[in-house]
Amino acid sequence: MEEKLEQLAQEAVAAFAAAQNEAQVEQARIEYLGRHGQLRKVTQGLADLPAEHRPAVGKLANQIARQIQEAFAQRQAELQAAAASGEQAAEIIDVTLPGRTPRVGKQHPLLATLEEMIDIFLGLGFTVAEGPEVENYYYSFEALNYPELHPAMDEQMTFYLSAEALLRSQTSPVQIRVMEQQQPPVRIVAPGRCFRRDTVDATHCHTFYQLEGLLVDEGVTFADLKGTLEVFAREMFGPQCHMRFRPDFFPFTEPSAEVALTCIICGGEGCRVCSQTGWLEIGGSGMVDPNVLAGVGYDAEKYTGFAFGMGVERLAMLRHGIDDIRLFYTGDMRFLEQF
Ligand code: DAH
Repeated sequence: MEEKLEQLAQEAVAAFAAAQNEAQVEQARIEYLGRHGQLRKVTQGLADLPAEHRPAVGKLANQIARQIQEAFAQRQAELQAAAASGEQAAEIIDVTLPGRTPRVGKQHPLLATLEEMIDIFLGLGFTVAEGPEVENYYYSFEALNYPELHPAMDEQMTFYLSAEALLRSQTSPVQIRVMEQQQPPVRIVAPGRCFRRDTVDATHCHTFYQLEGLLVDEGVTFADLKGTLEVFAREMFGPQCHMRFRPDFFPFTEPSAEVALTCIICGGEGCRVCSQTGWLEIGGSGMVDPNVLAGVGYDAEKYTGFAFGMGVERLAMLRHGIDDIRLFYTGDMRFLEQF
C-alpha cells in the first residue's frame, strides 16, 4: 500500500505538471483528488489493513494527499498567472500610433449645384415648390396641353407603372399642381428627380434632376424670361456668361425656346465640349400656353407667364468639368472626395 501511495504521488505530480491550462489542471485534480479519484480508491484499502499498520500508513496517506494537493495548487497558480499576463499583453495600448482621423461627410456635388441654383432664384423672389415623383397621366401630359398620342410624348420616354400612374419624366407637372392651389402671382422653382427610359451613357441616365421655374402675373413678357435666366447664368457662371434662346417646341409653352449658355469651357470660342458651337444647351423655356392657364382656371386674357426647365446634372458637369454623368450615381469615393 505504501508503494501504491508513493507511485500515485509521482503520477499525480507529473499529471499536474503536464497540464497546459486551467481546464486540464482541474481535470487532473478530479482524477487524483476527486471524490471518486485515485487517492480515495487507494485510501479506502486502509480499513482492511491490520490494526497495527494503520497509523503509520494513515500518516503516509495524509502526507501524500497534502503533497498532491500542493502540486495541484502550485500548478493552478502558475497557469492562472500566465493567463492573466497574456490578457495584459493583449490589452497593451501603443500610445505612439498616430490617431485615426474621422471621415467627415459633405454635400454631394449634384445637390450642392441644385442648392446653389435654388439660392439664386430665391434671391430673385421665387419660392420652392415640390411635386410627387410618381405622377399621373393628367398632370404629366394632359394638363400640360399634350394632345392625346402626340409624338412629343415619345420624347419623354416615360416609365409607366399603369395606364394612369407613371414616373414623372419632367418636373413640369409641378406647374399645374401649384397653379391649381393658388391664384396669380405665381413665382416658384420646383427641383426634383425625373425618370426616363433612356439608355445609360456618358450624358444620359434613367434618373436625373431638373429645376423647373414658373412665373405667372399680369403683363409678364418674354423679356422677363430672358432677363431672369440671364441673371441666373451670370450669378452661376460669372459676368462673361450669356444666354441664347432659339425656337423650339413644347406643348405647354407658346412660343417655346431652347436655352443655351456661353460655353464655359472655351468662353464661346468653340471647343470639343460645345461641338465647336460656343454654346451649351441647358434646358427649355417659353411663355406658358394660354390653354394651360385656362385649364387651371386662370383668366388667360389677364395673366401671362413664363416657364423654364433645366437639367441639374448638365450644370454640375459644366461647373466642375465632369465628363461622365454616371459618376454622380456610382458612389465612388475617389470621385466624391474631390468636391
Ligand atoms: N420639361 C421640359 C423637358 O424636360 C423642359 C421644359 C421646357 C420645361 C419648356 C419648361 C418649359 O418649363 O417651359 O424637356
